Amino acid sequence: MSETEPTALVVFGHHRADSLTAAVAERTAKRLADRGYRVDVLDLEREGFDPRNSVADEPDYGNRDKHYTDEVHAHIARVHAADVIVPVFPVWWYGLPALLKGWFDRVWNYGLTYGRSKSPMAGKRMLWIALAGGTADDQMAPLVQGLLDPQLRVGVSAYCGIPDAHTVALYDSEGQGLEGEARERHFRELFAQAEAAVDALLAAPAA
Ligand SMILES: Cc1cc2nc3c(=O)[nH]c(=O)nc-3n(C[C@H](O)[C@H](O)[C@H](O)COP(=O)(O)O)c2cc1C
Repeated sequence: MSETEPTALVVFGHHRADSLTAAVAERTAKRLADRGYRVDVLDLEREGFDPRNSVADEPDYGNRDKHYTDEVHAHIARVHAADVIVPVFPVWWYGLPALLKGWFDRVWNYGLTYGRSKSPMAGKRMLWIALAGGTADDQMAPLVQGLLDPQLRVGVSAYCGIPDAHTVALYDSEGQGLEGEARERHFRELFAQAEAAVDALLAAPAA
C-alpha cells in the first residue's frame, strides 16, 4: 500500500465498451480520484485477461509460495497495491459474469490473498457494485442482494481477510420502459447511487 496517497483499484469486465458497467466504473473511479485516491482502473476485457484456469494457476495447498503464471502475479500486484478494491459488474444469473469470476478464481489465489497467518489483504476495504436488470420492486429483487451479499462480502472478501466490505445493487440497469429525459434521469440516479456508496465506504471508520 502507498505510504503517501491511498490507492483504489476499480475492476470490471464487459464485452461492450459502451456498457453501463463501464460507465459506472468510470464514475466510481472519478469519485475516488475526487476523494484523493490514486485510481487504477482494470478493464479486464480490453486488457485481454483470460478467465480460463489452468494447472499452472491451480492452488497447491502444500506450497503457499507457489509461483503462478506471470499474468496472475502482475494482477495480484495491482490488488496488493490497493487500499480500496471496487469490482463493478452486471448481475448475470444472480452471480458474477465469467470474465470477472475467472479473475477472482485465478488471481485471488492461495498464498496471495488467503492461506497465510497474516493476511496479505489486511486493512483493505471493498465495495461490490452490482448492476441488476430487474427493478427494485420486482419479486426477484430480494434475490440479488440476498444471494450476492453473502457470496461476495462474506465468501470472498471476509474469507480473504477483508471484513470491511459492502455490496450495493443498482436496479433497473436497462431503464425498462423509460425514454428521453426520464431515461436520462434514471441513469443519473444510478450513477449517484454508486457515488453515494463510495462516499459511505470512505466515510465509515476502518473496520
Ligand atoms: C446472461 C445474462 C444474465 C442476466 N441475469 C440477470 C439476473 O440474474 N438478474 C438481473 O436482475 N438481471 C440479469 N441480467 C440483466 C443484466 O444485469 C443487465 O443487462 C445489465 O446489468 C445491464 O448493464 P450493462 O449494459 O453494463 O450490461 C442478465 C443479463 C444477461 C445478459
